Amino acid sequence: MKVFTDLEQWRDWRRGLDDEDLGFVPTMGALHAGHQSLLQRCVAENSKTALSIYLNATQFNDPKDLAAYPATLDADLQMAEQAGVDAVLLPTYAQIYPDDFSFQLDETRFSKGLCGADRPGHFTGVLTVVMKLLNIVSPNTAYFGLKDYQQFRLIQDMSAAFFLPVQIIGCDTVREADGLAMSSRNQLLDACARAKAGQFNKILHNAPSDDAAVAQLQALGVRVDYVETHAGRRFGAIVLPSGNGEVRLIDNCPPPQPVDVH
Ligand code: PAF
Repeated sequence: MKVFTDLEQWRDWRRGLDDEDLGFVPTMGALHAGHQSLLQRCVAENSKTALSIYLNATQFNDPKDLAAYPATLDADLQMAEQAGVDAVLLPTYAQIYPDDFSFQLDETRFSKGLCGADRPGHFTGVLTVVMKLLNIVSPNTAYFGLKDYQQFRLIQDMSAAFFLPVQIIGCDTVREADGLAMSSRNQLLDACARAKAGQFNKILHNAPSDDAAVAQLQALGVRVDYVETHAGRRFGAIVLPSGNGEVRLIDNCPPPQPVDVH
């Protein structure tokens, strides 16, 4: 597995692939079983797989959230190697933002609701960095987890809107045994917050209405940023007190599958 910190060396490697399919998994590090499944699918579906690890400061509207983000580079590289990744890109802020973020990619509709309403500027940071990474890496396909469903849809729509020659693929959420969606932020949950977090998906899934889900979550002692249903999919974001700080988790439940009565 090659590890690149130099963009010119990266571009040389990319040019050398000629007609081979390149699949890409962009991440911010702190890799977990959810990332592992993205990497495994990417390796299975492409002749070469690239991973980027870049903690993108421009998508954090809260500096405390950025500072608390776990950094686990050695373990991340080990997981990548085991998954069969061919190349890892580890860029710096100066390499990604030679313009110091003076050019920004803003989506004006879907990005303003759900997480966008609570985290102003978040999706502008996400879309800007993903556009830059797709231009640098130049993959045929790129893989994103459906836990971040709003992010996935925005990246897919951005890619179509700008005629990017890449296929954006959404991958099912990987969950802990109690249903908690895998997230790098789960590492920040203390025992009490972790127990409450295990109820999040069950409540989103089972509550008879969005309002009922909010009430049940609040009864657990968590702050609810939103529970909203759009196109049959219920989205939620909660903030749990944990240790000396807070941890924000998101999740969503797809519409129920139609029951086959035959
Ligand atoms: O989902 C993430 O980890 C990040 O938002 C992404 C897509 C890597 C952009 O920084």
